[in-house]
Amino acid sequence: MLLAGHVTLDRWEGGLEPGGTVSYAARTYLGLGARVRAITAAGPDFPTDALAAAELSIAPAGRTTTFVNRYDEAGVRTQRVEAVAPPLDPALAPAGWLEADLVHLAPVIGELDLGAWLAAVRAPFVGLGIQGCVRAVAPDGAVIQPPWRPAPEALRGVHAACVGEDDLRGQGDLLERLVAAIPVVAFTHGEHGCDLFLRGRALRIGAYETREVDPTGAGDVFSAAFFLGLAEGLEPADAARLGAGAASIVVEARGAAALDRIAEARARAAGVLVLPG
Ligand SMILES: Nc1ncnc2c1ncn2[C@@H]1O[C@H](COP(=O)(O)OP(=O)(O)O)[C@@H](O)[C@H]1O
Ligand SMILES: [Mg+2]
Repeated sequence: MLLAGHVTLDRWEGGLEPGGTVSYAARTYLGLGARVRAITAAGPDFPTDALAAAELSIAPAGRTTTFVNRYDEAGVRTQRVEAVAPPLDPALAPAGWLEADLVHLAPVIGELDLGAWLAAVRAPFVGLGIQGCVRAVAPDGAVIQPPWRPAPEALRGVHAACVGEDDLRGQGDLLERLVAAIPVVAFTHGEHGCDLFLRGRALRIGAYETREVDPTGAGDVFSAAFFLGLAEGLEPADAARLGAGAASIVVEARGAAALDRIAEARARAAGVLVLPG
């Protein structure tokens, strides 16, 4: 499978942690048995061992995309960037990499030109993370979410997408646009699970109950396991259960520390409930 998007460094009190959807998703795909290639951009400040055994194509950047996260007492996250690596051009992909059984477009902050990537990839399954499609950087470094109103043609070739509650803030009818254009859409609600939209049908998928230590990466790990399940031919509800089982593991420890146990996801999936939408 192929991942595309910026890896990141995420600043917390006390230090920098490697992150970005690509980091969390690469370890999820690997832990679930997939062969992983990742196209990203990073500076010398990024510890590439965070990407485990993935084959990497790294566009050199002065600095890795670096986020500063703050959570207020209500758990609401505000973000700034200290650095942003250059956009990723599919023309720079190594020979043969754009042909894959599964392509996961995993932007964090507008670094993928969606039209260019969708035109360039050759894959029976393409999954899209919406988070990086809606985020942009204001002149003062604040992460903002300007309205994104993709026409249906702009999403042609996307087989499934994941979107979280935070991603839809200020986005008007974006969820309706996604559901109308993309055959399988998961709208995730943290510990409350997700809504699954399937061409006019909706299901509610529960979460796998656990004790959350750090919510970082939940959406990224969910999307990777969900897309892998779909690409392997699982029914969408079962793929979403696999996503929920996987995401419940990453929240149990800080950052990506719990991903060593990601192979437990398949067993946990059996404990995730499916309800009518
Ligand atoms: N506290 C939690 N306990 C169990 N599962 C969780 C928890 N938080 C998130 N998840 C799982 O991860 C998925 C994605 O989480 P969410 O917080 O919506 O993503 P994001 O990282 O985009 O904010 C949820 O649908 C759920 O399956
Ligand atoms: Mg969340």
